[in-house]
Formats: sequence, structure tokens, C-alpha cells
Amino acid sequence: MTSKVTARPFRVLQLTDPHLMISADGALLGVNTRDSLDAVIAEVLKSHGQPDLILATGDIAQDATEEAYHVFGDRLGAFTAGSAWIAGNHDHAGRLAKVAAFYGSDRRHIVEGGWQFILLNSSVPGEVFGNLAESELEFLAEMLEQHPDLPTLVALHHHPVDISAEWMRDIGLRNREDFWQVIDRFPQVKMVLWGHIHQTHERQRNGVQLLATPSTCIQFTSGSRKFSVEDLAPGYRWFELEASGNFTTEVCRAMDFKFELDQNSSGY
Ligand SMILES: [Fe+2]
Repeated sequence: MTSKVTARPFRVLQLTDPHLMISADGALLGVNTRDSLDAVIAEVLKSHGQPDLILATGDIAQDATEEAYHVFGDRLGAFTAGSAWIAGNHDHAGRLAKVAAFYGSDRRHIVEGGWQFILLNSSVPGEVFGNLAESELEFLAEMLEQHPDLPTLVALHHHPVDISAEWMRDIGLRNREDFWQVIDRFPQVKMVLWGHIHQTHERQRNGVQLLATPSTCIQFTSGSRKFSVEDLAPGYRWFELEASGNFTTEVCRAMDFKFELDQNSSGY
């Protein structure tokens, strides 16, 4: 008797916007960002188990210190899989890359599980908005040209589309038309994934699944005109990818994490 062996899906974890700090007491709007990350990691291990790859999509450190990046790298020691980190507006791209290299997490192009992962640096020193340098756009096009047959996930920090919150209109990816011009040339792109907006966002564009994910610390209110935070638990995104290009994805939250949000802040 023969049994059909089905390859199991490739499992990817996205962690985004942990906003870690040099101080163990470091908190954002009353939420200790180390504690909330720990709660999210515990939830991943409880609900999904070990991933095959971890994508960290920016704002890894609130204070951009090497120490905070090491806190992140050490926390990821809970997982057996490798990770890849990109910078957000709160990060210092150089310091992040240096510490990421220490953990083998400075990879920006990964081919695993029958998929291709391309990570782009959309951070601009000293600015909240994002922009992709010409070299990033060339890198994106080059990788897509080299692997026309691999289903592809592209990740960056900033939102490359308008979302409903008005205050976020000016802090997304500035040269998004240049980005989409490249993406639109390559039908193997299945997903574009980002962080930055601290909330779930899911929609389609030209057959590409667009996805954003809650932060591992505080959550921004979706659809709000002004800066506002929402009393939602920290979370993460999980993917199950098949080599055929089919995939499933879901957002999960660490519902057991207890926190008291300072609702009166006008920024973060
Ligand atoms: Fe953030």
C-alpha cells in the first residue's frame, strides 16, 4: 500500500513594531514593550508552534539603541527558525543592520519553502514617512527578474496605499507609484506586507494580497482622523505557504496580556 506524502506548508511569522527600549521598564503609552513582546511570543508558541521563518517589519527599537536591538535578537531565541529584520521610522538603519548581522538576521532576499521573500528598506533618516531609494527599487526588480517562477512575498515598513486613518495619509510610502510600477510587472508577486500602522489591514490590488498587522505593543485606532490608540491586545500574523503559490494568513492576539493604556497621549 502506498500513501501519498503531502509536503506541509511553509510557516512564516510576522512580528512588527515592537518599539523596544534600552530600559527594561521602557513603556509606550503605559504598555511595557518588552512584556508585550514576550506575551506575543508566548502566544505564537501556544497557538501555532515554531515557524520556519520570522519576518520583522520595522520599528524594532523605539530609541534606536544597539541594546534594544539585542533585546529583540535575544527574545527571538525562543524560536528555532531564522529571522530577517528591516528598519522602520523609529529605527537607525545602520545600527539595526549591525545587530541584525550579529544574529544572522540581516538577510533581505530569502528563497525557502518554494517561495521568495524580498525585504525592502523604506526608512528615511529623521522622517516618519517612507521612501524607497532607487537602489531598493532596482534590488526589487532584479530579484523578481531572477526568480520568475517563485511565488513572492514583498515586505517593507511603510504602507504603500492609503488607509482609512487620515493622520496616516502623510506618513506612508511617498514614492508608492514607483513601487507599484515594479510590482505590476511581475505576476509572481502574491503578497505585499507591511507594519507601521499598528493595525490589521487586508485587501487586494491587481490580484496581489495587501496585508498589515497589529504591533506587538500598542494599537492605533483604524479609521481615526487624529492620532488615537485602541484598547486591543498586541498581536502577530501567521502564514502557511504552499509551493503552488496558495497561502492562508491570519492575525492572532495575546488576549491574556493585561495592560492599561494611556489614552490621553497625542503621539507616540
Ligand atoms: Fe511603529
